[in-house]
Amino acid sequence: MLYQRLARPVLFRIGKGDAETAHETTVRWLARLSGRSWLRDGLIRYGRPAAPVTVCGLRFPNPVGLAAGMDKDGLAVGAWPALGFGFAEIGTVTGVPQPGNPKPRLYRMPASQGLVNRMGFNNDGAEALAARLASAPPVDCPLGISIGKSKSVPLEGAVEDYLHSLRTLYPFADYFAVNVSSPNTPGLRRLQDTESLRALLTALRDEGERIAAGRRPHPVLVKIAPDLTEPAMAQLLEVCLDTGVAGVIATNTTLGRDGVAPSEDAVAAQPGGMSGGPLGPIAREIVRFVRRETGGKLPVIGSGGVMTPDDAEAMFDAGADLVQIYTGLVYNGPSVVRRSVRRYRRKATGRRRARHSAAHDAARKPSPGPAPERKLPCPPPRTSAHAPTTRSRRAAPCASASTRTAPSCSIGASTTTWPGPSASP
Ligand SMILES: Cc1cc2nc3c(=O)[nH]c(=O)nc-3n(C[C@H](O)[C@H](O)[C@H](O)COP(=O)(O)O)c2cc1C
Repeated sequence: MLYQRLARPVLFRIGKGDAETAHETTVRWLARLSGRSWLRDGLIRYGRPAAPVTVCGLRFPNPVGLAAGMDKDGLAVGAWPALGFGFAEIGTVTGVPQPGNPKPRLYRMPASQGLVNRMGFNNDGAEALAARLASAPPVDCPLGISIGKSKSVPLEGAVEDYLHSLRTLYPFADYFAVNVSSPNTPGLRRLQDTESLRALLTALRDEGERIAAGRRPHPVLVKIAPDLTEPAMAQLLEVCLDTGVAGVIATNTTLGRDGVAPSEDAVAAQPGGMSGGPLGPIAREIVRFVRRETGGKLPVIGSGGVMTPDDAEAMFDAGADLVQIYTGLVYNGPSVVRRSVRRYRRKATGRRRARHSAAHDAARKPSPGPAPERKLPCPPPRTSAHAPTTRSRRAAPCASASTRTAPSCSIGASTTTWPGPSASP
């Protein structure tokens, strides 16, 4: 509430209301916090709620992370855990530095709790990010690095461009997110086509294994668009399973405009990807679809429309192992992170208690045999190859605390062939 009443009105007035100026100013302030070790470490120690989970062989202090795009150049890496996050994904970074699309390119839709952006991967490039991370303070949470294709590189050169970023940033990442789903780089989403994706993911896997030299390579996750048809998404997931991808991030921003308040139709008409409240139901349906289609074999990071603890809970219930937040932070401030973690913890405790009392009841009755154990898939255990700037948090083979259902789904997005809008909350 304090954020909505006091901080947000000030932030939204910065730069005469220009959303990108406010964003840059905020990241600059957070970069200062990132560099003040006593304050940063105090906030982490006393302010970050703990709810440890292990996913993809990585141990996360809690399952709520920062989504890609907020800190594209890794300027404030130390600040994110101080705001309560259990992990942070920086980037998307490209092999070549680039300015992105012409401004203005970021728009708020407060009545809809959404944003429209067409940033176009504005970033300083992989080498500048590596140099920054080499001298950054230790990051007290797993650090994901999102890599994407440089605009100046044609699609045929995409594999080498991604490989360049992977090699350059390998020592600093705990996992890599492969961004083939931004709507703002021309042609990028074609990399989600079966053969292009297979070639890209195979090359990244082989290079990761080469760098890891017999130890466990960093997990590679694929971030998917919410605007794919159902068959296209099923094919994409098959390629992910075939190529040993560690997990999926569902989803990126949507080209659809379902759920926008009529008063904001003019802003919604801006070209670009939409995030926030209206994306939530679509992203959750896709998380359900991924779980059902892969039989739970691929861990899922749910990204899209987590604006409140209720939304986080709905995303976990849909089957996400971890969730990420971007737009929710803009509208509701960092308290949404801490409150979402607490909600997750309460639910996990409730589930553990229910299991405990069920086991207790069962022990008093003649046993019908042991209940099947539910485990999250993860890559085979190997030891870490790198000596990262980030503190190593690799863990033994993973097992998630959460249980989840994967009901049948119908995915709703106006620009897709998915059947009808979702009935999710
Ligand atoms: C301004 C802005 C920039 C973004 N940049 C990136 C990016 O560089 N890479 C990426 O993978 N996702 C990017 N995203 C998408 C977010 O990571 C996230 O997947 C999406 O916004 C849905 O989550 P949300 O509803 O919590 O915002 C961006 C989103 C916004 C609003």
